[in-house]
Amino acid sequence: MKRISELEKKYVLEALDNQFDTSKNGIFTNRMEAKFSEIFEYEYSISHVNGTATMHTALNALGIGEGDEVIVPPLTMASTSLCVLQNNSIPVFADVDINTFNIDPKSIREKITPKTKAIITVSLYGLSPEYDEILQICKEYNLFLIEDNAECFLGYYKGKLVGTFGDFSSYSFQASKHITCGEGGMLTTTNPVYADIARRFTSLGYAGVSGKQAKITRNDIQDPQYNRHISVGFNYRMSEVQSAVILGQLERIDELVEIRKKVGAIFDLAIEGCEFLKKQYSPEYCVNSYWGYAMILDTTNPEVDWYRFRDLFQKNGGDGYYAAWKLTYQEKLFTDEIQKMPGVHQEYKQGLCPNAEFLQKRIIALKTNYWDLDEAEVQAKVLRKTIMEFNCKC
Ligand SMILES: Cc1ncc(COP(=O)(O)O)c(C=O)c1O
Repeated sequence: MKRISELEKKYVLEALDNQFDTSKNGIFTNRMEAKFSEIFEYEYSISHVNGTATMHTALNALGIGEGDEVIVPPLTMASTSLCVLQNNSIPVFADVDINTFNIDPKSIREKITPKTKAIITVSLYGLSPEYDEILQICKEYNLFLIEDNAECFLGYYKGKLVGTFGDFSSYSFQASKHITCGEGGMLTTTNPVYADIARRFTSLGYAGVSGKQAKITRNDIQDPQYNRHISVGFNYRMSEVQSAVILGQLERIDELVEIRKKVGAIFDLAIEGCEFLKKQYSPEYCVNSYWGYAMILDTTNPEVDWYRFRDLFQKNGGDGYYAAWKLTYQEKLFTDEIQKMPGVHQEYKQGLCPNAEFLQKRIIALKTNYWDLDEAEVQAKVLRKTIMEFNCKC
């Protein structure tokens, strides 16, 4: 299977054949957004340049502002927190569950203050967080929920599609993601008012755009009296060529996600019975979409063993072996600058989120984007061999 097939190429050529004629600007974006809404079961899909801008837009559209607090997990790509800072708000870190690696509802409760306005959950490596409890917390404390599903396409939680829980849900089309056009993102919502504000925010505050109307043509605004701008906005729009690629990817999304799940199953067999590799735990009521295959190296000396295992894996012919991101609050930006920002009351030091700190040192994520299962089988054999050869204290 090819990741980018003839279909995407055909749509790209069609988009180019439109010559970027202003009267045709938006044809592919509209088609692609409609398809996204159909698959992801939200009324409004608002395309973006990436899956960070999406969350900046969501925070703005929900009316979250300067000094408001947003609860986020620290074990994730930093964009989950950076978007909060871009919005002049304060990220507050809640710990993660030691087994699922996802934000822990108990810890969320402990971090709520009178300034808390929202929670951003992450479906880490493709696995849903515990939405029953998280939605209960949102209801009790009147908090907004934004789902960061950059890593989760067609995951399920208790039979419901991941992405259908939040006031907004965000997706990324960056190159490593389930569907891609190199860079890009999508923001979904069911709320027409939020959708209109969000669209305007992505489009320089143009009056003529709305939740369903991505682009305005030059003809729409040929009137000297026309008032173009009614709010302050960014230019976060995706291009027609990118939309053409994503339209093709959406029409093939089942096979693109399914193959990653099959790779996950192949790696499951490879680590079966291994005492020192513990996989991210997927509860039986979740369908993991396997953006990556995450596990921890559960040994007494992770600082040394992580590198030893990687070197052996690579010597045996392994590829795609990744560490977890540094915890966001341990990044230099946070310890040196954000810590001093007015309104930041958490101390960014060891012990702030003990489970996340434990996991971060130990996580090994294997890549799942093999488009030929034979290649994944070869990697699984390499993994098995590495496990047999690796000596460690557990
Ligand atoms: C969990 C998570 N959130 C947000 C992002 C940001 O997406 P983008 O790179 O499209 O801005 C990523 C990955 O890139 C991610 O993995």
